[in-house]
Amino acid sequence: MSQIEEFRLRRQQLARQMGRGAALIPTAPEAIRNRDSHYPYRFDSYFYYLTGFDEPEALLLLIAGEHPRSILFCRDKDMEREIWDGFRHGPQGAQSTFGFDEAYPISQLDEMVPKLLGNQPKLYFSLGADAAWDQRVTTWLQQLRAQGRSGINAPAAIVDVRQLLDEMRLIKSPAELDVMQRAATITANAHKRAMLATKPGMMEYEVEAEVLHEFYRHGSRAPAYTSIVAGGANACVLHYVSNAARLNNGELLLIDAGCELDGYAADITRTFPVSGKFSAAQKDLYELVLAAQYAAIEQVKPSQHWDAPHEAALEVLVRGFIDLGLCQGSVEAVIESGDYRRFYMHRTGHWLGLDVHDAGEYKDASGDWRSLQPGMVLTVEPGCYVRPADNVPECFWNIGIRIEDNVVVMAHGAEVITAAAPKTVNDIEQLMAEAGVS
Ligand code: GLY
Ligand code: MN
Ligand code: MN
Repeated sequence: MSQIEEFRLRRQQLARQMGRGAALIPTAPEAIRNRDSHYPYRFDSYFYYLTGFDEPEALLLLIAGEHPRSILFCRDKDMEREIWDGFRHGPQGAQSTFGFDEAYPISQLDEMVPKLLGNQPKLYFSLGADAAWDQRVTTWLQQLRAQGRSGINAPAAIVDVRQLLDEMRLIKSPAELDVMQRAATITANAHKRAMLATKPGMMEYEVEAEVLHEFYRHGSRAPAYTSIVAGGANACVLHYVSNAARLNNGELLLIDAGCELDGYAADITRTFPVSGKFSAAQKDLYELVLAAQYAAIEQVKPSQHWDAPHEAALEVLVRGFIDLGLCQGSVEAVIESGDYRRFYMHRTGHWLGLDVHDAGEYKDASGDWRSLQPGMVLTVEPGCYVRPADNVPECFWNIGIRIEDNVVVMAHGAEVITAAAPKTVNDIEQLMAEAGVS
């Protein structure tokens, strides 16, 4: 199936689920960095999921019913603007290249959309996602309501279109899994490159540059999120992003970085010694987090519930915290009291896809954890972060460790698509010894 065909099928599938009504799905606005400089443009994930169209200033209007119509509004061709900013498909080009039923200039939006929404029973729109679009849609609805006496009705209900799209996005197609595998492999190699390049005395940002270099030279145009390159105690700051400290002999380096490829995210964390050799205390904690991660991955299989990997990781971690003198009491008591949260304060994973924290509910309608199904993709990322404290053995102070892989739920269990990034103590030490680090 061609890529364009897959986008068309997604629009058809959404229209079928809507039954009757119209959906408005705008792409993301451009964001100004300062004056006339923009941040690199990133389309809206829902819009891209349904169109494959990556230009700013675009909106998909999908009319469901017996004869569904997918209508794109996009920027017109404009030779002057194209000389300055680059190619634009224009409505005609976009219609034929991307397979829309109709396409019009975005400048006709205010004139055409109220007409197209007239007498549609429901409007599917993600109200509350963007204030500017909320305002615009409200104006269109007010215009329609004002025409009530001429027999044109405004939609009687507004439904959040994300409810339908989130469920669709949760199960990845073979084509999506293929892109995600490629993003995972590029990212795994970037982590390997970081391990090979790291030496005591380097700055965190120098290692970040190695990671980004590997992303870009393989066609990824941006990281999927701001990279965390955290040496020593910085690894205990969960969202550390300044990446500007010196890396010292004897410290661990935690890198949480993933590339975005064709819109899809990879999300890998590896933690390794700056010197290439783990100390005894670092190794104790590292082996514990790794054991927790293996236990969690074991729980990734169809019909297992979402929280099972977290529960498995937590049990291993808590047992280890007790054995290492970080927590006191029984496993059950430490879990019950939440005392473990001094060292493990986040959950063990999230959905992964177009967004790094991807679309999709974690609980079902009755409030229970939902079941895993083939085609879902999630991260498995237990960790352990030890800040100095009187009741904590000093040998563990300022050690922060996380090990994160990307996992596809398969009919037979789990497939770790980020396995090319070394994670056992042996594999890491061997690789770094080969690079002459230790
Ligand atoms: N890198 C973001 C996360 O691991 O959730
Ligand atoms: Mn993650
Ligand atoms: Mn991560």
